[in-house]
Amino acid sequence: MNGNAQHTNNSVILGIETSCDETSVAVMKDGELLSNVISSQIEIHRRFGGVVPEIASRNHLTAILPVIREALEKAGVDKSEITAVAVTYGAGLVGALLVGVSAAKALAYSLGVPLYAVNHIQAHIAANYIATPELKPPFLAVVASGGHTGVVRVDGYNEFNALTTTCDDAIGEAFDKVARALELPYPGGPEIDRRAADGRACIEFVSHKKRDVSAISYSGLKTAVVNYLHNAKMRGESVDINDVCASFQKTAVDMLAGAAVAAVKDTGIDTIVLAGGVAANSYLRKKLADDGQKHGFTVYFPPMSLCTDNAAMVCRRALDMIREGKPPATLGLNAVSYLKISE
Ligand code: KG4
Ligand code: ZN
Repeated sequence: MNGNAQHTNNSVILGIETSCDETSVAVMKDGELLSNVISSQIEIHRRFGGVVPEIASRNHLTAILPVIREALEKAGVDKSEITAVAVTYGAGLVGALLVGVSAAKALAYSLGVPLYAVNHIQAHIAANYIATPELKPPFLAVVASGGHTGVVRVDGYNEFNALTTTCDDAIGEAFDKVARALELPYPGGPEIDRRAADGRACIEFVSHKKRDVSAISYSGLKTAVVNYLHNAKMRGESVDINDVCASFQKTAVDMLAGAAVAAVKDTGIDTIVLAGGVAANSYLRKKLADDGQKHGFTVYFPPMSLCTDNAAMVCRRALDMIREGKPPATLGLNAVSYLKISE
């Protein structure tokens, strides 16, 4: 249980997450996670090579009520015991988010309990409090997801400031786009991670787009890989896919790890946590752990189940909002496709 959870005794939070292709519902009682049910649509979207927003919304619609029921059952909690409902309202696919937001509003209204609107990236960062109970701000969060990338300074449980961001694509998006160019199945990130383990990082992919040193750019790196594949095809040369994966992965991760090391030096904060789906990447975990040893900072990784989208992190984020007395959302709450980390 987290350090200041005693302030929220008698709280039973039901959290909902539907921002992309996972329908997830979790129940947290007095800061303790009782259930975290995740219904993934990955198999449904695989045949299209990526998430199809309309199909995602429809599947969230069919999954949401059974997943709510299952989460309550697994937690051994009756819905009459719920004291707050929390939901991801952005960032993400609007149609997908709307399913969770509508369900959360209906539940909060019918039970007469407050509704908390949770920022998805703040929730990814908060997942670390579940995984590492001794973790306390200040720390730096390396955010690496399908929609966000960068280094965030976390000065308090409710204080998030972006230090470095990507100026174009997110790192997960780059993994998925490169995987697509290599004709690998969706989602591309885990596939590239697996193949990179059997490859050599021997190809230099130079991104011509990276001009601003305080920002990270992945679109240029993706183009460099696509050009490399195109040129090899034109010349009739064979390509070692595992080497391409290892080389791309190293360049993509080193860029983010470099920003993290720079942030440690600039801020003097010597604790780093990882957040977002790409936090599951084995090379990113190893690189940051190695850099931590070299430069003297501590790195915490959430377990794989808390890296990709889940509702446990939504409950945990809401707990901090409740503790600080943040006002609940109204029933006018809407889904938002883009949100800044501080919103
Ligand atoms: O955080 P997340 O579940 O969803 C968003 O909030 O965007 O992140 C999904 C992203 C996808 O781009 C997926 O390819 C990537 O995380 N991912 C990985 C790995 N596992 C998931 N990328 C690299 N290596 C992995 N092992
Ligand atoms: Zn996410």
